[in-house]
Order: sequence, then structure tokens, then C-alpha cells
Amino acid sequence: MADLLKGKVAVVTGAGRGIGRGIARLLAAEGAKVVVNDLGGSGSGEGADKSVADAVAEEIKKSGGAALASYDSVASMAGGERIIKTALDNWGRIDILVNNAGILRDRMVFNMTEEEWDIVQATHLKGHFACTKPAAILMRQQRWGRIVNFTSDSGMYGNAGQANYGAAKSGIMGFTRVVARDLGRYAVTCNAIAPAAATRLTATIPEATAGRRALAGAQAAGGRGATPEAELARLREPQAGFNHPDDIAPFVAYLCTDHAAGINGKCFRVAGGRVSLLSDEVPLRKMWKPSGFWTPEEIAQIFPQTFGLDLVNPAPPQPVEQKR
Ligand SMILES: NC(=O)c1ccc[n+]([C@@H]2O[C@H](COP(=O)([O-])OP(=O)(O)OC[C@H]3O[C@@H](n4cnc5c(N)ncnc54)[C@H](O)[C@@H]3O)[C@@H](O)[C@H]2O)c1
Repeated sequence: MADLLKGKVAVVTGAGRGIGRGIARLLAAEGAKVVVNDLGGSGSGEGADKSVADAVAEEIKKSGGAALASYDSVASMAGGERIIKTALDNWGRIDILVNNAGILRDRMVFNMTEEEWDIVQATHLKGHFACTKPAAILMRQQRWGRIVNFTSDSGMYGNAGQANYGAAKSGIMGFTRVVARDLGRYAVTCNAIAPAAATRLTATIPEATAGRRALAGAQAAGGRGATPEAELARLREPQAGFNHPDDIAPFVAYLCTDHAAGINGKCFRVAGGRVSLLSDEVPLRKMWKPSGFWTPEEIAQIFPQTFGLDLVNPAPPQPVEQKR
């Protein structure tokens, strides 16, 4: 390795498994001292197990790197502060924060419980804030920092059965754009990754559901030129499907280097060897009335024949099944 991160101190949340483990190991291989944070719970956020973070910290140390395990949950402000304090107390600074910890509690919105909603918001959206705030205070003072957040296709296109997760991941995109603007002047960057990799989280999605979700996502993106068939074919390519979790780490590590000083407030989709820069939200089309307000009747007449013409419903109504 090239020691691209020599002398840097990093915190990686959810680093005991999956994508986070690969990131922690690569940052360490590039010379960073790494706090390996992981609560060690189940994929739905139940329980806790210290051995999960311990194992990765040990792996790093055995390979000659510097690592410390941290077992706090990111889902509270106190937990976030303790995680960042682990870096500060042991190594005197924090340069890199990777907000990767995550869980799933999938359920169709009409069946979703308040608890399923709250725990997903707490882990993902609040978890990002809980770790970013104490890190940002220190990064601002030292005039250098890198924050890498984790969003998802679900937050951009919408996956059926993930109202809680999609809302949190979409919120993380908004959070990323604002934090980039809050901290950019202090030479701190904040970007987001939408990954695709085979981990225990994706293992919970049955293949048929994944196909339906891909189709729904592609249809939602139809206005941007993708056909559902093309998008499904793309997702089925070996490179773009569920790849090895370690594939995500190199681009994250790059974002943490001095080479990426000018990249701020952006979102990248990373899947296997493919890295895509995602577009910022911009108005695609406009309709404008020179004076006064539109009436609903006017809109109903004009909209379907103009820019409403090719809008695709990602989940069109289905015929009601007749009971025998
Ligand atoms: N795998 C994918 O294809 C995919 C797709 C889109 C987004 N993501 C996102 O990537 C990130 C990593 O996911 P993964 O697939 O590697 O999952 P994973 O389950 O393999 O790893 C996530 C880790 O986070 C830890 N964690 C969960 N809640 C925590 C908490 N409150 N505090 C501290 N640690 C906690 C878990 O113990 C686990 O080890 C998540 O944010 C996920 O939403 C993954």
C-alpha cells in the first residue's frame, strides 16, 4: 500500500462486518489509525456483541496496522460522542469519519410499526448526526477533515417495503449536501456513497423482490432516460450486481485523501469496479403562467399533454383478485 493516509486518525462505524470491515482494513493498510466501531447486533438492530468489533481490530493489528475497538451504538448523541472521543483520547485527533453503520426493518408502509420506523431513523439518520457533530467540532478546529456518509438506491429511487430506510437514506443525502456547505470553508469535505455489495443486509432481500425493486427503481428513473429492461440488465451484470463488500473501500479511501480535497457534497454509486457520479437534483421541466395562479382545471388540461406525457407510475394499480 502507498501510505496515502499515513498519520491520519479514522473512525469507521459499523466496521465489524460487511462494507465497513473492508473500509476499516483498507484505511489501516493506507496508514491510518482506525477506531473500529460496531455494536455487533443483528441485521435488524437487536442485541449487541463486542467480539464483532474486536475481531476486525485484531485483524488490523495482526497485519501491522493500528486499531481500537469501540462498541457504542451510533443511535444516540452520547454514543456518537463516546465513539469520537475514543479517537481523541487515544490518538489526539480525528481526521476521517465514515458513517457506515446500518440495519434494516423492512415492511410495507401500511403494516410498519412506530418502533420499526424509529429504530431505522435512529440508526441511519440520527446516527449520522450523532457522530458527525462531535467530529465536525474537532475537524473545524484543525482545519482538515473527511466525512463519508452512506446512502442507498432506496433513498434515491424508492424500494417497496422500505419507507423507513428510504426516508432515512434520502435524509442522509440532504444532510450530506448541507454538511458539505457548513464545513467546506474549513477544508472539511462531506460526500456520500450509495453502495451495492453482497452482505448480510442484501442477503435478506429475496431475489424476486430484488428484481421487482430494480424494476420499480428503473421505472421511477424512466424520465431520465433509462428503460426498465435496460436498468434490470444493468443490475444483473456481474459488475453491477451484488459484489464483494471490499469493492466499496478503495473509493471511500480515495475520498479521504488530500487528492480528493475538491470533492464535496457529492454522491457516488459504487458497485464492484463501477463508480458513478450521481446527479444533483435539478428541475427537469417547468411550466409557467405569466400572470396569476394556475387553476386545477388548467393544469388538468395542459399537464398530461406536455411534460406529464411520459411520466411512468412505478407501481401501477393491479386488478383486484376475485375471492372464490
Ligand atoms: N450492502 C449493500 O448493497 C448496501 C446497499 C445500500 C446501502 N448500504 C448501506 O451500507 C452500509 C453498510 O451496510 P452492510 O451491507 O455492510 O451491512 P452489514 O450488516 O454487513 O454491516 C453493518 C454493520 O453496522 C453495525 N451496526 C448496526 N447498527 C449499529 C449501531 N447502532 N451502532 C454501531 N454499529 C451498528 C452492524 O452490527 C453491522 O456490523 C449501511 O449503511 C447500509 O444501509 C448497503
